[in-house]
Amino acid sequence: MNILIIGSGGREHALAWKIAQSPQCDRLICAPGNAGMAQVADCFPLDASDHDAVVAMVRAEAVDFVVVGPEQPLVEGLVDRLDAEGILAFGPSQKAAQLEGSKGFTKALCDKCDIPTAAYGRFTGPDAAKKYLRTQSTPIVIKADGLAAGKGVIIAMNPDEAEAAIDEMFDGRFGDAGQEVVIEEFMEGEEASFFALTDGKAILPLVTSQDHKRVGEGDVGPNTGGMGAYSPAPVMSDALIAATMERIIEPTVRGMADQGTPFKGVLYAGLMITDEGPKLIEYNARFGDPETQVLMPRMKSDLLPILVDIARGDLTTTSLEWSDDVALTVVMAANGYPSSYDKGTVIEAIKAAEATGAVVFHAGTKMDGENLTAVGGRVLNVTALGGSVTEAQRRAYTAVDAINWPGGFCRRDIGWRALEREAKSSVD
Ligand code: AMP
Ligand code: GLY
Repeated sequence: MNILIIGSGGREHALAWKIAQSPQCDRLICAPGNAGMAQVADCFPLDASDHDAVVAMVRAEAVDFVVVGPEQPLVEGLVDRLDAEGILAFGPSQKAAQLEGSKGFTKALCDKCDIPTAAYGRFTGPDAAKKYLRTQSTPIVIKADGLAAGKGVIIAMNPDEAEAAIDEMFDGRFGDAGQEVVIEEFMEGEEASFFALTDGKAILPLVTSQDHKRVGEGDVGPNTGGMGAYSPAPVMSDALIAATMERIIEPTVRGMADQGTPFKGVLYAGLMITDEGPKLIEYNARFGDPETQVLMPRMKSDLLPILVDIARGDLTTTSLEWSDDVALTVVMAANGYPSSYDKGTVIEAIKAAEATGAVVFHAGTKMDGENLTAVGGRVLNVTALGGSVTEAQRRAYTAVDAINWPGGFCRRDIGWRALEREAKSSVD
């Protein structure tokens, strides 16, 4: 079959890399893609918000199946349009994508289905929000309701910071996303990412993973799209996985179907592992980035037929085969990221990195004549497998060090929590 993957990030390169290996994949197209995806697919420019243009490309290139990578086109209803045109597509409908597109929507579902999450209030104006604030303790979390590219969350350490955050949101710092504000109890614990494929009824969980959201080593500093990831996430014991399925994922899939917004696609639960068990921080309606870059290299099963079954509403696969190896991805970002960063700097020696056995998934890269150049904030995802976290990390950084890119930087401590656990368990 001919497949179109929409997107241009490291997540989409990892999906393209995996799907290209499927015996069922005849031709792979990525739009808009990046320089790395161009090695496994035909790339074309495309604005995914222009649904007519997407449909035209599907018809022109005889595409049989579309995989939508990022959240924006999902929340804008691209899959609904493709469905209406009779085009098979992987991803939730616009209504179901509200799980990511509206934090208030998700909180209401949690209430209805008794899903453990932080206590909260929803507000459409600053006065009621501040009144509620006075009944709460700090730290407290202030969130814009809508999509804000991962930046619409402020953790306020005291009441003054909380009031300032409320004013900022209602003053339009996050545009329409901040028209409604969610104020949430601060949860203590370790975060983990949990992914489950679902056709709206059947559920197929993936192996566990963790990402590093903060820009600085030791997980400090501003939030980013993600500076690295690893799989498995040792914090997720079998008991915690079972609890996550039973208390969070299963009630969500049932609840969405019962309220007439069945979710088809991949559910990405951001979890806080608290003393009381796993609690939902948020849902995303798509694969994680950079988590996909560690999940795909560990997946032995053929992903493509499963995605197709889900799009058809007929998921029959009950388990997936995975490598026992640890996978670890180091994100290389342009100097300055996540603030303003340089563009157009030249990257050399990716081949030398790949010669070490690592896989380099591209994000913001573009060929400029003979030169590979950086055109985004997050640019490369250097991924290695190993028999332990120590080995996967060593291999990933060996590959990172082979790359010659003075315009970029990375964190040197990706996987530190897992390494600490590994060191502890070898002493115990
Ligand atoms: P979100 O966009 O909702 O995933 O939030 C971004 C980040 O903010 C999360 O990854 C957490 O680190 C943090 N965060 C969000 N909500 C909470 C909460 N209720 N308690 C503690 N940390 C939170
Ligand atoms: N890993 C964070 C995200 O995909 O949103």
